[in-house]
Amino acid sequence: MRRIPVILDGDPGHDDAIAWVLANASPMLDIKAVTSVCGNQTMEKTTYNALRICTLIGLNVPVAKGRVKPLLKEPMVAPNVHGQSGLDGPKLPEPAFEVSDMDAVTLMAKIIEESDEPITLVPTGPLTNIAALFLAHPELKSKIEHIYIMGGGIHHGNWAPAAEFNIQVDPEAADIVFRGGVPITMAGLDVTEKAQIYPEEFDIIRNLGNPVAKTVAEWFDFFFQYHKSLKGYRGAAVHDAVAIVAMTNPEIFETKDLYVEVETCGDYCPGATIGDVKHVTGKEPNVHVLWNLDRDAFAKILINACASYGEVSK
Ligand code: RIB
Ligand code: CA
Repeated sequence: MRRIPVILDGDPGHDDAIAWVLANASPMLDIKAVTSVCGNQTMEKTTYNALRICTLIGLNVPVAKGRVKPLLKEPMVAPNVHGQSGLDGPKLPEPAFEVSDMDAVTLMAKIIEESDEPITLVPTGPLTNIAALFLAHPELKSKIEHIYIMGGGIHHGNWAPAAEFNIQVDPEAADIVFRGGVPITMAGLDVTEKAQIYPEEFDIIRNLGNPVAKTVAEWFDFFFQYHKSLKGYRGAAVHDAVAIVAMTNPEIFETKDLYVEVETCGDYCPGATIGDVKHVTGKEPNVHVLWNLDRDAFAKILINACASYGEVSK
């Protein structure tokens, strides 16, 4: 089977961490690098978390530091969701290796340039690094196969009424990426809020009995505290994992191709992802928007991925 060469870019973050557990377990993906970005926490903290996650799951690839702040705005971290460390909850191993001496954009550009096949990018935090890559190396866009993002929401936001956190942190970066001409699949809140894992499933994962599964269950224990404080959540919405499963199991999703633009100014909704659902602009769709999913199938994929960490290495 042809494996998809990917670069994981994120702001771990509990759901970024679980997304990377999934990605690392998939035989379909060939992870070339991991890059951190300022989002849920400062770039220093998300980098440290990225190194610890890779150590825990045995993902020995270059990990590079991303941009220390959004393109124009000041950082806007989320300790109320992910804690002061950005990945509160279970104790994690200290990093088994050093961060790359290249920064994220340099490393991404090197990998893309040297690859004999196009690379897929999977940003699950603000799009700062991806936009910076486009600005510094526009010639490399033709060697990017696809971008699977977690971000945005056509019908509503979560950090502001009309803006989702990742896009609201860096709307200018998102605008650059959405206009960039590279194919995009958007795992926005319309679908990720349905991707809830239930407490009884935390326990199924916990009882799988391997260290990674135990840590994932404890990440869910912490992450669910935030969701419990909100109305309408029976479980924890593991937003970022949807971007990975959209690649490995597209069959469990309903998708709509829409023209989507990003609001970057105004008083009420900078960071809104405005989807032309009624096709009133006449503009060609630029985004495959994930609209719905088979939640039970999603949960099974996650549980099976966690179970694979207990199998004797293949
Ligand atoms: O709005 C959810 C997104 O914001 C997720 O990627 C979460 O990790 C945070 O980055
Ligand atoms: Ca994230």
